[in-house]
Amino acid sequence: MFPIQRPRRLRRTEGLRGMVRETRLATDGFVYPMFVVPGSGVRTEIGSMPGIYQQSVDRFVEECREVEALGIPAVILFGIPETKDERGSEATSATGVVQRAIEGIRRAKLDLVVITDVCLCEYTSHGHCGVIEKGDVANDPSLVLLAAAALSHARAGADVVAPSDMMDGRVAAIRSMLDENSFQDVPILAYAAKYCSSFYGPFREAAQSAPQFGDRRSYQMDPANAREALREVALDLEEGADVVMVKPALPYLDVIRQVRERFDVPVGAYNVSGEYSMVKAAAANGWLDERRAVLEILTSIARAGADIVLTYHAKDVARWLKNC
Ligand code: PBG
Repeated sequence: MFPIQRPRRLRRTEGLRGMVRETRLATDGFVYPMFVVPGSGVRTEIGSMPGIYQQSVDRFVEECREVEALGIPAVILFGIPETKDERGSEATSATGVVQRAIEGIRRAKLDLVVITDVCLCEYTSHGHCGVIEKGDVANDPSLVLLAAAALSHARAGADVVAPSDMMDGRVAAIRSMLDENSFQDVPILAYAAKYCSSFYGPFREAAQSAPQFGDRRSYQMDPANAREALREVALDLEEGADVVMVKPALPYLDVIRQVRERFDVPVGAYNVSGEYSMVKAAAANGWLDERRAVLEILTSIARAGADIVLTYHAKDVARWLKNC
């Protein structure tokens, strides 16, 4: 008795496989994360993230030109300020690095969606995502500063603001601040389910944002919780989020899938620094085929249900997809 059902029939040639492929990777949903530093002519590679740089505004704009030419629609900006203080004052400065970087993109007339990460950890001397009161990260006082940072990004010309701090109520605080200042058309991409993850390690080198005491467990989510992620997403949507994001991506594909099924809004996923560095390190040692690994990882994030993917691999993938 031979099988009637032979799934292998449709796997015989690349033409057949392509026709029945369920998930098609495209650059349309990609967002490329970039780090901006003060000064000019600066382009320093991040040790733990080969191929990713800290750059001054001039060099950053040059790379944005390349990103645009590769057909990647969007960038997300992280700023490393000149000086840090207790309250992260430079986050709201009209002449801060991120604000000047946005203006740089605008002056260069690049056709890119400019998203800004809204958080205080890169700007505070203690490296926490909010202000410290009585030895703890104080929720409500932080909201005022986060809303002010988002407003200054919008004033500088940001297309989308993306709060990543995980304070309660920050989406509502940012939404009302933007609306009061006539930025009602600037969407909020909320890092809604952001886990307290080991995979942010390389980013903290890149953004010089490691907490100087303690950790982020009192505000970022416990990796063991998925139901809580759905609650966080629901709250952010009630508060006015336009897009919700799960972060990191690969260890939380189940969460991406559940958010996709439960909510009819665009879903983002952040393929974070540690996920990038693992692949880079293994590939450098000849332990993984980088191209195949990256395409498989990004396909799986899309298959889990993410519409938008923030990834440091974006430029490489765009090049590979063009040659295909
Ligand atoms: C800021 C922020 C972090 C990341 C994005 N925004 C780091 C953190 O929470 O410590 C991580 C991104 C990455 O690892 O690529 N709060």
